Amino acid sequence: MANSLENSLNEAVPNGTIIEKVNQVKTDVFDIAPGLSIKGLDELRVEALGKKGVITSILKSLKDVPADQRKEVGAAANLVRNEIEALLDSRKSELEIEELNAQLEAEKLDVTRPGTQIKTGTKHVLQQIQDQIEDLFVSQGYQVVYGNEIETDEYNFERMNLPKDHPARDMQDTFYINPELLLRTQTSAMQARMMDVHDFETGPLKMISPGVVYRRDDDDATHSHQFHQVEGLVVGKNVTMADLKGTLLSLFENLFGKGHAMRFRPSYFPFTEPSIEVDVSWNIVDDTTKPEDIKWIEVLGAGMVHPNVLSMSGIDPQKYSGFAFGLGPDRFAMIKYGIDDIRNFYLDDVRFLEQFRQVNE
Ligand code: PHE
Repeated sequence: MANSLENSLNEAVPNGTIIEKVNQVKTDVFDIAPGLSIKGLDELRVEALGKKGVITSILKSLKDVPADQRKEVGAAANLVRNEIEALLDSRKSELEIEELNAQLEAEKLDVTRPGTQIKTGTKHVLQQIQDQIEDLFVSQGYQVVYGNEIETDEYNFERMNLPKDHPARDMQDTFYINPELLLRTQTSAMQARMMDVHDFETGPLKMISPGVVYRRDDDDATHSHQFHQVEGLVVGKNVTMADLKGTLLSLFENLFGKGHAMRFRPSYFPFTEPSIEVDVSWNIVDDTTKPEDIKWIEVLGAGMVHPNVLSMSGIDPQKYSGFAFGLGPDRFAMIKYGIDDIRNFYLDDVRFLEQFRQVNE
């Protein structure tokens, strides 16, 4: 566009008077301006009214006008100049408003539209099982104690009837912090701690102790060095194996529903006598199920508290008896949800974990 005004001037009014010339510029500006952008208008302004602009140079020739006419011509020319300026100003502000409106339209935010759902977490399936176990036992009058993951050799082993150099310690090799302190291998460590402080005059001791335990298990890739247990212990007068059986039956029925069979197998633990291992059927069974069709899965170890364990806590085994069990909540979750690989619980695969989202959290 540069020089377009000047070219037009030279063509249209080559020998025009000052008034003719400024009017020609006005005509041209009024023609061109409506089609220009803000930037174009600014350029046109410079070309018309700038220091070196056409109007400015036309006005410079005022000095050649005879003195008696100069005032009049000057005033008239200035009027036209002002008209040009006013046009450029108003066109520019029109465009600025248009631009603002377009921007407001483009950035419009409809606050009434539905929001985007925020993804929230949910309790891990193993935590859900633990909560359910805690709720059940609390409803039966048990107390819940957690204990420490760092335990003394005394409570983890010796008070569990596992003196130093006892061969059964091999089953539970662990991580030692020093010869007397270790990462607990079993929640059973809480048994003696609770028996030590319980006042049996007030009634039986009934407790569960959920938590994480550790074992040095480096020869088998399917075992983890860290896993969960829930310990259970009842000590009082006339506590029998039948109480243990009834307690476990109610636990299994509460967690899995009816229809899962339970089986006791004789076993050995240094701190229980007799000792058993307990299996639950993976599948639902009834009277017509053939024994070979029952798929057993071992879920816990249990037994009657060994008299030595009672004595070490100052409890008279002639007056008191008790049962104890230690279960693996991971196994429980497998049966409850039909999961066949325990590693799924620890892989942090959201697609897997999402299936256990709790409603009403
Ligand atoms: N503490 C045993 C284990 O870790 C389980 C158990 C607990 C067995 C209580 C009997 C009684 O294997």
